Amino acid sequence: MSDFSERLFSPARLGSVTLRNRVIKAATYEGMCPGGIPAPALTRHHVELIRGGVGMTTVAYCAVAPNGRTFAQQMYMREEVITPLRELTAAVHHHNGAVSLQLGHCGYFTKNSEYVGRGPLGPSFGVNEYGITAGMPFAKAMTEDDIAGVIEQFGLAAERTVRAGFDAIELHVGHGYLLSQFLSPAVNRRRDRWGGSLENRARLPLAVLARVRRAVGPGFPLLAKINLRDGFSGGLELEESIEIVRMLEAAGIDAVVMSGGFTAKNPFYLFRGEAPLREMIEVEKNPLQRLVLRMTGSSLIRSYPFEEMYFLEDALEVRKAVKVPLVLLGGLLSIYSLERAMAEGFDFVALGRALIADPDLVNRMQSGEITRSRCTSCNKCVAEMDRNGVRCVL
Ligand SMILES: Cc1cc2nc3c(=O)[nH]c(=O)nc-3n(C[C@H](O)[C@H](O)[C@H](O)COP(=O)(O)O)c2cc1C
Repeated sequence: MSDFSERLFSPARLGSVTLRNRVIKAATYEGMCPGGIPAPALTRHHVELIRGGVGMTTVAYCAVAPNGRTFAQQMYMREEVITPLRELTAAVHHHNGAVSLQLGHCGYFTKNSEYVGRGPLGPSFGVNEYGITAGMPFAKAMTEDDIAGVIEQFGLAAERTVRAGFDAIELHVGHGYLLSQFLSPAVNRRRDRWGGSLENRARLPLAVLARVRRAVGPGFPLLAKINLRDGFSGGLELEESIEIVRMLEAAGIDAVVMSGGFTAKNPFYLFRGEAPLREMIEVEKNPLQRLVLRMTGSSLIRSYPFEEMYFLEDALEVRKAVKVPLVLLGGLLSIYSLERAMAEGFDFVALGRALIADPDLVNRMQSGEITRSRCTSCNKCVAEMDRNGVRCVL
């Protein structure tokens, strides 16, 4: 075994917690919460990943409040979900694994049919591309009270996350969700203390981090998933995202997961590879949305060529600039990529699709049985999550 694979498969500290190795399952929306309540399938899914060898698994997107959902079926943090989540975290711990929960707020990026109030709300007035066919085509600018309310919602959700037995929280600061909307110069056009300079645009993510830290206490592992780039003209670029990582580091984040893309504008930037349009049309329940996808999908939904470790080059620039633990993500499929990540000084790796395709990938790589996931980046798992729960079609 090389020194780098030894490092990969050795225990590592994340905040006050020790993970048994450096492989994290990235948050991939499971579609296993009918009515927003975690079903036993969600526990089985994460236990399978832990039994397959990952050090820590991540339960995907849980909104901090009802209006933080992108669509109505999504889980949001409330008393009713704590008992099923406690069962999930206990089952993961029984198999000697760790589990994180991704907490987020969608901001204006929503088609939630249960939305209550004057929303969708984001940093500034604009078009809600995602909500057009759901009758929510415009975003309104949040007021000071709205912003204070969201910060508080993150804090309360974090408290409940701890009560549900999670080992860590991942704050969703990327992919064009609320905190990423505030960071994005293209979307945040505010002229008050929440917009304009990078310091102002970063004020909300940092206020959320401070409130969440207060809720969970020192030492509790907090990760932030950020964008290296928004991936469209006028959006956040690497130079500023490096500054954002510096700010998160100074504010006491325990690790930063590096991603990119803005789901409402370039949904496949964050994945690369084929856009599975036919499957997306099949699973779309809204007839109007289905029609729009059929008529305009191929021009609206651009695909981006896949290459292994597609965020590496940008992530290396971040690595040079900060000391905070960094998680390399994006098209990691083979043991060689994982070893390379270690060699380049990243602290953890996160894998999404490779582990959907092969939940026992880590064990099989560690034993030398296989060197590469069978994932072909066909992205059909992205459509599958809306059918009967996320799965690999291979
Ligand atoms: C089916 C599916 C669902 C996803 N859901 C989420 C999500 O809820 N939150 C998130 O931050 N990223 C989500 N992602 C993105 C992944 O976390 C990851 O950033 C992306 O797939 C790139 O990593 P990979 O090349 O290892 O798959 C999802 C990805 C897939 C394939």
